Amino acid sequence: SGEIMRIAVVGSGYVGLVSGACLADFGHKVVCIDKTEAKIVDLQAGRMPIYEPGLEDLVCKNSATGQLAFSTELGPAVADADVVFIAVGTPSRRGDGHADLSYIYEAAREIAAAVRGFTVVSVKSTVPVGTGDEVERIIRSCNPAADVAVVSNPEFLREGAAIDDFKRPDRIVIGLPSDERSREVMAEVYRPLYLNQAPIMFTGRRTSELIKYAANAFLALKITFINEIADLCENVGANVQEVARGIGLDNRIGSKFLHAGPGYGGSCFPKDTLALVKTAQDSGAPLRLVETTVAVNDQRKRTMARRIVLACGGNVRAKTIAVLGLTFKPNTDDVRDAPSLSIIQALIDFGASVRVYDPEGMEQAKLMLGASVDYARGVYECAKGADALVIVTEWNQFRALDFERLSRCMSKQVVVDLRNIYRREEVCKHGFEYVNVGEGVAAERSVFAAAAE
Ligand code: UDX
Repeated sequence: SGEIMRIAVVGSGYVGLVSGACLADFGHKVVCIDKTEAKIVDLQAGRMPIYEPGLEDLVCKNSATGQLAFSTELGPAVADADVVFIAVGTPSRRGDGHADLSYIYEAAREIAAAVRGFTVVSVKSTVPVGTGDEVERIIRSCNPAADVAVVSNPEFLREGAAIDDFKRPDRIVIGLPSDERSREVMAEVYRPLYLNQAPIMFTGRRTSELIKYAANAFLALKITFINEIADLCENVGANVQEVARGIGLDNRIGSKFLHAGPGYGGSCFPKDTLALVKTAQDSGAPLRLVETTVAVNDQRKRTMARRIVLACGGNVRAKTIAVLGLTFKPNTDDVRDAPSLSIIQALIDFGASVRVYDPEGMEQAKLMLGASVDYARGVYECAKGADALVIVTEWNQFRALDFERLSRCMSKQVVVDLRNIYRREEVCKHGFEYVNVGEGVAAERSVFAAAAE
């Protein structure tokens, strides 16, 4: 049996809150801290600031036992802590795409003023290489007497599957400074996990910081690769889902993250790939593959809007387009950098009126889209009188649409399925025209035929 650690988590956003709740569930004593008072008041009352399956139960269960507490005050929790996690946001800096580290440095200064006794400061936010060095420098200069070891401990959890990802990670990465005392402390924090066979990897602090960016960039690249293969499939009469299956069965490639779609979005991939590109350029070792990935993915969102226009016969002026799915992926209410936003803006620019529906993302979407679109309360209200129905996010409730009912309520029978959740025959048999991603339909019209013309 392990030792119970006293843990303070600075920043109760996605990563901080999920990590704090899971660490409390391991048996540690955790205080999650945030500056936004309303958020802390809500959390103390068991109300979640984000939609994440399983989170509310976990928070309520561990609050009831006293393992988990919430506070706006950093001082007492940090003074008491064996480990302080920094899990504040690192948004893109306006203008240059670099990560904005002001919240990290502010946290470092406040922690410096509050620490008592040997304390491990563990940076969980995604931060550029060298940030750990800077955090250490700030703490030492603010409080020369502080006895701290600053480690890097990136978090790889995905929204919508966050708790499962935290509790059953593929690996735990810990980047250590020269102070070896932090190694034992971090091993103790994660003991329940590696007893469950999760490999724990100790490495240098800068290496650990880079691992997180390299992992995200590689995944973004994998998605972008299959998206370009999807375009090729359409031109040469091949099927991207079969290509993905065929290459994914090769263990060296692997089958995950090969779903072609409207491009990646979310709070991580777009921001982290951009920050990595900047770091690499500044260091004199530019990452050209990642630069191209960023550009291709940005452009893809616009081509998706053109695809919808083409499906509507080349013009959407004064037509109504129904958009199902606004979040960047299912099981979250997060619309940050979601493909839906760019697609909808482009459709509006082309003169369409847009009506939208999402099971969880409506509130967030309203903040972004305002009065530029109409909001529906359900799928069929959204589709009513529409000239085309576009599926942008693969929520489960969109996987079993009643096409007979849609066919009666829409004014034109066009479905654009940007996530390939349907089979063509299934939709077409109800009289719909069906457009998806990466399915070349004119199989007989091969490139060779085209070349011969
Ligand atoms: C990602 C990483 O997976 C996670 O390890 C990291 O900690 C944070 O960033 P997240 O942003 O929550 O997690 O979502 P993810 O499931 O990775 O999806 C990101 C985007 O890629 C979504 O827009 C999704 O729709 C898209 N995607 C994913 C595809 O288009 N195709 C795929 O095959 C997989």
